[in-house]
Amino acid sequence: MSFMRKPFVAGNWKMNTNSNTSVELVEAIASRTPEAARKSVHIAVCPPFVYLQGVINALNKSGIAVGAQDIYFERDGAFTGEISPAMLKDIGCTYVLCGHSERRHVIGEMDELINKKIAAAIIGGLLPIFCVGELIEQRKASKTEEVVTQQVKKGLAGLSAGKVSAVTLAYEPVWAIGTGLTATPQQAQEVHALIRKLLGEMYDDKLAEEIRILYGGSVKPNNAAELMSQQDIDGLLVGGASLNADDFVAIIEAAT
Ligand code: 13P
Repeated sequence: MSFMRKPFVAGNWKMNTNSNTSVELVEAIASRTPEAARKSVHIAVCPPFVYLQGVINALNKSGIAVGAQDIYFERDGAFTGEISPAMLKDIGCTYVLCGHSERRHVIGEMDELINKKIAAAIIGGLLPIFCVGELIEQRKASKTEEVVTQQVKKGLAGLSAGKVSAVTLAYEPVWAIGTGLTATPQQAQEVHALIRKLLGEMYDDKLAEEIRILYGGSVKPNNAAELMSQQDIDGLLVGGASLNADDFVAIIEAAT
């Protein structure tokens, strides 16, 4: 991890918690995170849409940011069931996940839609966390580089360096998500370095050096520090372990 890039730990709660447990969880995270860790690590939680407001209210002045798990690219209008960047900004969201593997592979989102969402998020004043990663078959067929390169290029298509500087990348190998199978720190580092090199080619060295690239996929308290010790891993996107305050705080401390 470079000193230029402040570590970033984000919790993706996925479709979990309820109105009580969402607030209890962030209250526990806020009260158990040591002051020093709060200063040296950017921290965010991404609850389900319906609990965003309660979590934002509960986190007031804690220094912990809140993100949504998805967004729609239109500003307002007849888009039943969708949530706009302006709405998320209005209630105090900072981040939004775009292109998470479950949206790609369970819901069926394509690169073109993800690209529109990233662009709309930035224009709407949100900071996208743009997720990429290969399926196990693609890794076995030695297609990881090709798949990740295409996802990054298509996801950021048409965006200037100025806009992309608002983006945090997250490399989440699909085979490591929710499986307990973490990529080894070396496997993760290899892809992170590849993404950084690609961003240097697409934009410039400054952007590549400054952009943060998180790792996600079965991050736990016992593997967080080793993952963070890799040169191009700037933070962690945590699923299951972010639903347990002690585990999530231990991961934050491992990232300091
Ligand atoms: P797990 O940490 O549960 O593997 O989930 C990772 C993830 O998808 C975070 O976005």
